Amino acid sequence: MRSLVVAAWLLLLLPTRFVVAVKEQDFKKCDESAFCRRGRTLAHRAAEHVTSGEKWKSPYSLDASTIVLEDGGSRFTGRVRSSLYPEIKFELDVRVHEDGVVRVRMDEKEGLRKRYDEAASWALLKEPVLSPSSKWSVGKKEVKVVYGEKKDQVEVTVEFEPLVVRMKRNGKDQVVLNGQGLLHMEHFREKVEENVKKLEATDVEMVAAEGEEAQKVIQLPPNAWFEGDTEDGLWQESWRSWTDTKPKGPESLSLDINFPNHGHVYGIPQHATRLDLPTTKGEGAFFDDPYRLYNTDVFEYLASSTTSLYGSIPLIHAHSADSTVAVFVSVASETWIDVAHPTQKSTETHWVSESGILDVFLLPGPAPDQVFSQYAKLTGAVQLPPHWSLGYHQCRWNYVSTNDVRSVQKRFDEEDIPVDVFWLDIEYSEDHKYMIWDKKNFPDPVDMFNDVEALARKMVVIVDPHIKRTHDYPVYKEGQELDLFIRNKHGSEFEGWCWSGSSAWIDFFNPNSWEWYKSLYKFNGRNDGKWSWTESTGAVHIWNDMNEPSIFNGPEITMEKDSIHYGGWEHRDVHNINGMLFVNITSQAVKERTTPYKRPFVLTRSFYAGAQRFGAMWTGDNLGTWEHMAVGIPMVLSNNIAGMSFAGADVGGFFGNPEPEMLTRWYFVGAFSPFFRAHAHIDTKRREPYLLAEPYKSIVRETLRLRYSLLPVWYTAFRESTVTGLPVVRPQYVVLPKNEPGFSIDDQYYVGASGLLVKPITEAGVTETTIYIGEDQVYYDFYSGHAYRGSAKGKNVTVPAPLERGPLLIRGGSILPSRERPRRSSALMKRDPFTLKVALSQSGSASGELYLDDGESYGHREGNFVWREFVAESTKKTVIISTKDLGSKNPDRAVDGVELATYNGGNAFANALNGVRVERIVVLGLKNRPSKVTLGNTDLEFIFEGGVAAVGKKEGVASKLTVKNPGAFITSDWTVVLGL
Ligand SMILES: *[C@@H]1O[C@H](CO)[C@@H](O)[C@H](O)[C@H]1NC(C)=O
Ligand SMILES: *[C@@H]1O[C@H](CO)[C@@H](O)[C@H](O)[C@H]1NC(C)=O
Repeated sequence: MRSLVVAAWLLLLLPTRFVVAVKEQDFKKCDESAFCRRGRTLAHRAAEHVTSGEKWKSPYSLDASTIVLEDGGSRFTGRVRSSLYPEIKFELDVRVHEDGVVRVRMDEKEGLRKRYDEAASWALLKEPVLSPSSKWSVGKKEVKVVYGEKKDQVEVTVEFEPLVVRMKRNGKDQVVLNGQGLLHMEHFREKVEENVKKLEATDVEMVAAEGEEAQKVIQLPPNAWFEGDTEDGLWQESWRSWTDTKPKGPESLSLDINFPNHGHVYGIPQHATRLDLPTTKGEGAFFDDPYRLYNTDVFEYLASSTTSLYGSIPLIHAHSADSTVAVFVSVASETWIDVAHPTQKSTETHWVSESGILDVFLLPGPAPDQVFSQYAKLTGAVQLPPHWSLGYHQCRWNYVSTNDVRSVQKRFDEEDIPVDVFWLDIEYSEDHKYMIWDKKNFPDPVDMFNDVEALARKMVVIVDPHIKRTHDYPVYKEGQELDLFIRNKHGSEFEGWCWSGSSAWIDFFNPNSWEWYKSLYKFNGRNDGKWSWTESTGAVHIWNDMNEPSIFNGPEITMEKDSIHYGGWEHRDVHNINGMLFVNITSQAVKERTTPYKRPFVLTRSFYAGAQRFGAMWTGDNLGTWEHMAVGIPMVLSNNIAGMSFAGADVGGFFGNPEPEMLTRWYFVGAFSPFFRAHAHIDTKRREPYLLAEPYKSIVRETLRLRYSLLPVWYTAFRESTVTGLPVVRPQYVVLPKNEPGFSIDDQYYVGASGLLVKPITEAGVTETTIYIGEDQVYYDFYSGHAYRGSAKGKNVTVPAPLERGPLLIRGGSILPSRERPRRSSALMKRDPFTLKVALSQSGSASGELYLDDGESYGHREGNFVWREFVAESTKKTVIISTKDLGSKNPDRAVDGVELATYNGGNAFANALNGVRVERIVVLGLKNRPSKVTLGNTDLEFIFEGGVAAVGKKEGVASKLTVKNPGAFITSDWTVVLGL
């Protein structure tokens, strides 16, 4: 067999890996994963019973006599029994948190073995605080708790028999667990040889198939309702050339989570599909296979599929016009999720996981904003990134030498194209021993970093988790001496193949690895004198790739599930968390090597719930096709609503050579993504923007300048996200949660709370497009000021979309701060003056915010920041535009765990910005030419171009007032009065 295995990975290593599209058969379908088969079979049988008129009843019940109230009554525990296995003990533990989130845990007690119960301890920011006032009461048929305001009450019941958990709001079901009776926790058992029937592949298909024939052959003994008549893959499972030994036997978990009053579900990234998750079950299901969460390196993935990708966040939002709720399932093992809409207004989901306890959080909403804050309170908000990391990142596999980097930088400057960061992919390293320079091509890395930093830019260098197994690599040698590597099923060092050839992987679940790994990044040397990355500087930040982990000769290009981690847990138990731990430690390493600490930037490919606390993510190895450009948008939105706000897709596509039109459009997509990086495969032609022919080059330059001019908007949006958990880019249902026709729209979105609404073009040859406006409001074309009108029912408006102007509207009622002087990097804009664009609403008002700080230190936590509000208000005879400080306001929506600071007036950062002007105020939609414009006693000069007013119903180019140099400063309070 050995030779076969070797042949398989060789094939993967060869260039064919990069020319073939993803082979579907390289990754499992549900029916190739035994526990998924078992889970789906269970659901299938339940459905059969229901159709045949028989009752399908869950065998699980809560034993009322065992219920114990704890923690002042906000929590109870009790024994759960299954009538199929009365001797097995399960414990239920249900808690109400102070913010109304309900946590439901169930575990097998006194079982033969222990289920993995630590997923939440990695995902959660800290142990949630239980409600001081909500108390469970035990009734005849259920345990119940009621909380919330009189008019808006949440009631949670845990019904005894069968066991059903139901969250209601104002009497209406929001979330129901086990309502369909698909709960099943496979208990640990002894392996009894005679029971282990070897299944032939064809039998398996019969069992799993949903077709009529399969139904005929299944003869069900009594408890086969749940577990089938044959032991399907309980103790061992082979797939291709790999065998999973499953020493612990079966322990899968099945649970139906239903939303009887919600017709739309979003989340459970990462999948290449629509934001509003298409169905996988039921009549006319869009996909055949359930959504899969199992972090894998799926190269050249399909643009529409339920296949798992590099990261997994088991969070689902359910939405309707009158409520939004969410469920976070804290599980780290391979998980499959079926989605069905039995009616247009309801959703059923069925979750099947391979191992781990049941640990489910019900987030009551009732609107998207509250769901975001409830989720951020659990898993943390995105960290405030360094300001430069919101600029443009130039990457490719590979910039091949230190001089290559210098000449790329030079070309950007010669062409006056802004850029903040240059990246180095794997080829900088000697034999892919990360942190060790290939001195042939990178003889002077520190000089290179300094040359880049001298022009106010940064570099990001890749460090992957596979450690080349050679003793001349200090990381390997020390890791082995310290016994920090993951083990194989036999208990010795796990060995696998990756870029570095034969490699080992550090077990970041082992706390002993943490301080040691961080110390490797010390560029001033380690205290113990051992090796560290001294050929590095404080301007270097890190990219963690391949951390699913990607293992070329492993099953599904990842690690064997029976490999062993710290604490004796199998890789199967922790797989989806594995990549996040690496980013966690890397981001700490980058932060802690500078004194005082600076905010780290780390990009990760693999992630799990909570990874937003550590860095940015990107959508992996996409293709340079229109289709991939298009699906990148809902993928970024989906990650955003699941907490991973700092998200982007490779501009240009990783594989292939996009034609200039496609690349130009893609730059616009990137310019409106939270994370904006161009990247390309080693086999592609160079495609840095300066290489484009005209007119493309100039258009891309302008697109980059647009991104840079709007950095104040992006930074303000990020800052809000760190405090409230709201996403940086927001789909329609988040901004207008009551506007039904917008719920499935995912090709346009808003940037933070700024009012910018963008709809990137992702097709060739487009000159105009429609944008959906889901409210009765005026929206202005960002470039021309053309006023469009939406309607409360929703309306499509047609907007121009030439190559040089990606569709971009400003929502009436917004004030946008921007910096319009073209610069070569964001650091050079620090003292640039501001333009304020006031887009009046239909009622003649507007508001906006601006957040600024030094962009790289933690000084903002000591109150060194500028946070201002701008307001425009109309009366009959005036429009008054004013600004005030928000820095001393304690934001009431702030989630826990973020270090919030307030200040009283002045602070060092604000003082340093004294004298930074507002150089222009533009007002769109005034009803007539002002008679005068004043600031205090000073009459200001202005230009007025007549046009459509915000008030009223007219469409067309809006009137535009421009006040140049009003004599106002960005850090001071002022009032500008327009006399009408
Ligand atoms: C991150 O690392 C710290 C140790 O520095 C550890 O306490 C924490 O649990 C880690 N969290 C995750 C999600 O890895
Ligand atoms: C807007 O256009 C889309 C796509 O053409 C269409 O499906 C939708 O019904 C339209 N919405 C309205 C409100 O006209």
